[in-house]
Amino acid sequence: MTYKLLILPGDGIGPEIMDAQKRVLGWFGKNRGFDYTTEEDLVGGISYETYGEPATDAMMAKALASDAVLFGAVGGPQWDKLPFDKKPERGLLRLRGDMKLFANLRPALCFDALKDASTLKPEIVAGLDILIVRELTGGVYFGQPKELVTLSTGEKRAVDTQIYYAHEIERIARVAFELARLRGNKVASVEKSNVMVTGVLWRETVHRVHAAEFSDVELVDVLADNCAMQLVRAPKTLDVILTDNLFGDILSDEAAQLTGSIGMLPSASLGARLPDGRLPGFYEPIHGSAPDIAGKDLANPIATILSFGMCLKYTFGRVDDAVLIDKAVERVLAEGYRTGDIMQPGMTKVGTKGMTDAILKAL
Ligand code: NAI
Ligand code: MG
Repeated sequence: MTYKLLILPGDGIGPEIMDAQKRVLGWFGKNRGFDYTTEEDLVGGISYETYGEPATDAMMAKALASDAVLFGAVGGPQWDKLPFDKKPERGLLRLRGDMKLFANLRPALCFDALKDASTLKPEIVAGLDILIVRELTGGVYFGQPKELVTLSTGEKRAVDTQIYYAHEIERIARVAFELARLRGNKVASVEKSNVMVTGVLWRETVHRVHAAEFSDVELVDVLADNCAMQLVRAPKTLDVILTDNLFGDILSDEAAQLTGSIGMLPSASLGARLPDGRLPGFYEPIHGSAPDIAGKDLANPIATILSFGMCLKYTFGRVDDAVLIDKAVERVLAEGYRTGDIMQPGMTKVGTKGMTDAILKAL
């Protein structure tokens, strides 16, 4: 089976970090029998400059026909004043929407060599390995009505609406339970059922799915405010966190910061499994286009390379290959290689290319 990959470098440091990822991809093709073809296209600001749109229909058609999309980053100050629907970030939102990526997976992993780089005590974060499973296409970001109005009294009123359907909660719960089985077999379902009826439905639905299909997995209910506290108090008590769009947005950024640099953290967004068994996915680092360091060989490629690891694991089921990537990253960090964002005293400073060379050597 030859897999089809679409590569979308985007803007800023996007092309540099995707060059690094392509070299790693090439290594797996050559040494591990990973059989693939790639296409490459424009997205974001560069697509706007070339085609007048941040995401063209032709690019979207390629994305929908791919097994996986490997994405860099989009955006930059030169496009900040564009109308809303032409902004580079709209390209990313269109991809997420049209590919129906309802499950956002964000690991927060503390590499041993970087445990001193956290703002928390090393013993609190050493060995930390959390996976946040965030519902990505429902909830308060999309619910209608959503309006900001001036009343006849002259006062302004704003409304956001949180809506969840049981089927939306069911499908994200299944993703979390399935992934938990591949890890610590433990899910914390996070909501605020004490004050929100969407939380009541969330809890009820998660428990129904659990009882019917996943009773072997340990399930605990955690209120969102308590979860925020546990993340900084005792994060290692958590394994898979299953939560909605809004809480997931906040908690995943909080969890990310426990482990140090933004340049280290990958993400995956998954849609529904297709009838032929394929699980198309979208893989990107969590950071943006970092215009301040673009084109200078300064960007840390690790988040992007780890994103490819997630692709091997989730879309292609090649768990051993994904582990190889994690181990290679662990090794180069233990050997003391550091890009600027994770530099520590006495370590060896390298650029994007130098870090990629080291990872390929470790592989
Ligand atoms: P950013 O993540 O691009 O940068 C924040 C800080 O982290 C900067 O100092 C940057 O130099 C540093 N940084 C980021 N990635 C790094 C890496 N791999 N290695 C070393 N240092 C790294 O966020 P910012 O500055 O808020 O946004 C810049 C642009 O990126 C904006 O146009 C924003 O809209 C866009 N953006 C795009 C995202 C995406 O494509 N998914 C996500 C977030 C922001
Ligand atoms: Mg966020």
